[in-house]
Amino acid sequence: MSTAVISNIVILAAGKGTRMVSAQPKVMQKLAGQPMLAHVLQTAVLLQPAKIIVVYGYGAEQVSSFLVNQDVVLVHQKELLGTGHALLQALPYIDHHAKVLIMYGDVPLLHPDTLKALMHKVDRNNLSLLTQQIVNPLGYGRVVRDRYGAVKRIVEEKDATESEKKIDEINTGVMCILAEQLGDLLPKINNLNAQKEYYLTDLIDLAAREGILINTFISTDMDETLGINNRTHLAMAEKILRKRAAERLLNQGVCVVDPDRIDVRGQLDCGTDVEIDIGCIFEGNVKIGDNVKVGAYSILRDVILGNNVQILPYTLMESAIVGNDSRIGPYARIRPGTQLGSGVHVGDFVEIKNAIIGNESKINHMSYVGDSEVGERVNIGAGTITCNFDGENKHRTIIGDNVFIGSDTQLVAPVTVEQGATIGAGSTITKTVPEGALALSRVKQISVKDWVRPKKIRKQD
Ligand code: UD1
Ligand code: CA
Repeated sequence: MSTAVISNIVILAAGKGTRMVSAQPKVMQKLAGQPMLAHVLQTAVLLQPAKIIVVYGYGAEQVSSFLVNQDVVLVHQKELLGTGHALLQALPYIDHHAKVLIMYGDVPLLHPDTLKALMHKVDRNNLSLLTQQIVNPLGYGRVVRDRYGAVKRIVEEKDATESEKKIDEINTGVMCILAEQLGDLLPKINNLNAQKEYYLTDLIDLAAREGILINTFISTDMDETLGINNRTHLAMAEKILRKRAAERLLNQGVCVVDPDRIDVRGQLDCGTDVEIDIGCIFEGNVKIGDNVKVGAYSILRDVILGNNVQILPYTLMESAIVGNDSRIGPYARIRPGTQLGSGVHVGDFVEIKNAIIGNESKINHMSYVGDSEVGERVNIGAGTITCNFDGENKHRTIIGDNVFIGSDTQLVAPVTVEQGATIGAGSTITKTVPEGALALSRVKQISVKDWVRPKKIRKQD
């Protein structure tokens, strides 16, 4: 990118995306956990242009509310009359002497370096076009060259002759041109074609006629130029992003057991010697310390894990913080607002919500701990339930250090169990248990000696 000239990026994102067969606008379809448009925008931002303009139209409310906090100029294309028409709507907002990079909202996998190279050689006599040679060009615009190899025009699939359809060089939708030339040429585009649309691609023909050289940049990465028109394309793009994320992790030294079976839908930062087994999903911001093992089919969303943590298979965690040396799962559910100290053990079928669990405490089997503060070295027996909800309000349970809670205990909140207390199995605790005390609330056992079981009465025919 020349430093003397400022650049603008225009993202065309007004289309409906009929082939998605969805009520949502195409650019809002999710890709690696974010709208497709977010990926395009992130790439645009990395290029540090003076201005980013987004043309939106279909699903206007959804798209504009997604963009509301972004540093972009929003331009509404009221009638969807084609890509040329879309760019024409943006023209009044483009800086006069800028280099203008045009991107499509449904081409989300481009590398910033490819775009930088494309923007470099653009001046009064040169415009840049990103093309790709592909085996199956079906659906894309084809790049038509003259017999000397110079680009003459782009022909859309629906307007192409049989021989033009055989051209395997396609238009990726990305081009870069000076604003002045765009201002001259864009209004000249007409809609005399099979789809009665104003094709932006006609700009190439118009420019070539003016003697402007069309420099093509042929992308070497087959994946990056994928245009997403239907759900098959969307799934392909998801797969490419999955591969990219896995490669990034592998290069950082993370042991990803099977790079085809990991999904990163957000930001995942790992320390050294982290091992991730198959089928795991990471969403939002996840930070993992050193020597951590994440077991198969675990889902971690906005989670921070300390060092030496073990997540055993099939664990679901959301908005939680875990201290060093803790062990969670298998089949644990850790819900938002959970903070586990270090050396904490949480076992199978345990649900924890909005609770602080102190160092070295253990909740090993089938329990629910919600809205609670649990001290250090507490042992919570199997089947313990904090009854935090009275039907209207949620209440807190406070458990001191070194408490022992026997199996099958209900703690009816608000309630406090002071430090060092013991609760006998099967108790229902409704009042404060004082420090060091034993609390028991179960019915006394009776034993009837020599009990004779009832005998089965035979039916008479
Ligand atoms: C377009 C190109 C084609 C190219 C392909 C690359 C045209 C005429 N054709 O075809 O040469 O090979 O992309 O993927 O440009 N849009 C608007 N307003 C509109 C119409 C579309 O903003 O009125 C936006 C869409 O939201 C989309 C982008 O422009 O993000 C491309 O539109 P789409 O209809 O998908 O064009 P293609 O048929 O894929
Ligand atoms: Ca498209």
